[in-house]
Amino acid sequence: MPDTKVLLELENVTKTYAGPTPDEDVQVLRGVSLGVAEGETLAVVGPSGSGKSTLLNLMGALDRATTGSVRLGNLDLGTLSDAELAAVRNQTIGFIFQLHHLLPQCTALENVLVPTLAGHAPGQGDTVGHARDLLARVGLEHRMNHLPGQLSGGERLRVAVARSLVNRPQIVLADEPTGSLDREATERVVELLLSLNEEDGVALVFVTHAKDVASRLNRVCRLEDGELR
Ligand SMILES: Nc1ncnc2c1ncn2[C@@H]1O[C@H](COP(=O)(O)OP(=O)(O)OP(=O)(O)O)[C@@H](O)[C@H]1O
Ligand SMILES: [Mg+2]
Repeated sequence: MPDTKVLLELENVTKTYAGPTPDEDVQVLRGVSLGVAEGETLAVVGPSGSGKSTLLNLMGALDRATTGSVRLGNLDLGTLSDAELAAVRNQTIGFIFQLHHLLPQCTALENVLVPTLAGHAPGQGDTVGHARDLLARVGLEHRMNHLPGQLSGGERLRVAVARSLVNRPQIVLADEPTGSLDREATERVVELLLSLNEEDGVALVFVTHAKDVASRLNRVCRLEDGELR
């Protein structure tokens, strides 16, 4: 694929979390280099505690590398202020969290609209219509006005999926996106994300334990002891 451009590039990234004492610092990533091309789909697999969520958080500009560089397009994320990182995240990246982090007092539709309120994204026409359309595409047309507490775990995840897409990101990062779903609901979410990849060239990075989900993506990376294998 000679004309594909690298969208996201990690070079020799390490991440160490400070422990209660310096002796208890945890080095989670030990020199990870990884590129994601525009429109590529990638699975990150590996045992629990191997650093998958940590890696995804760095890719999604939610956290900073201890050493090494993370580049998104021609931006070096390490050089940006927290406010600049937030703007990049809001405009470019869709994130689906392992715990879905919906606002409990907001309806499904309001939750999907939250990323549009930051004002970083350019005017996209009918934002509310787009949010409704996304909720319909994940099968929640009858649950738009329900609160998260009134939804099942799988329904909440589907709200989080719709929310990740509302600002039309270039890349969607998903941490175990189908962990709590049955087969049919998994299929619906995976189909939606793959169709966005095919139709709009949205790049996808999934952390997943599901082999049948990983096998539908272009590439599988395995993390073990903080290194890619
Ligand atoms: N904020 C933190 N402070 C200290 N240690 C942390 C922090 N976050 C994660 N860790 C540690 O880093 C390691 C990797 O965690 P991470 O959440 O990235 O793993 P994971 O591969 O996503 O695991 P799982 O499959 O269980 O979700 C774990 O040993 C964890 O205890
Ligand atoms: Mg995790």
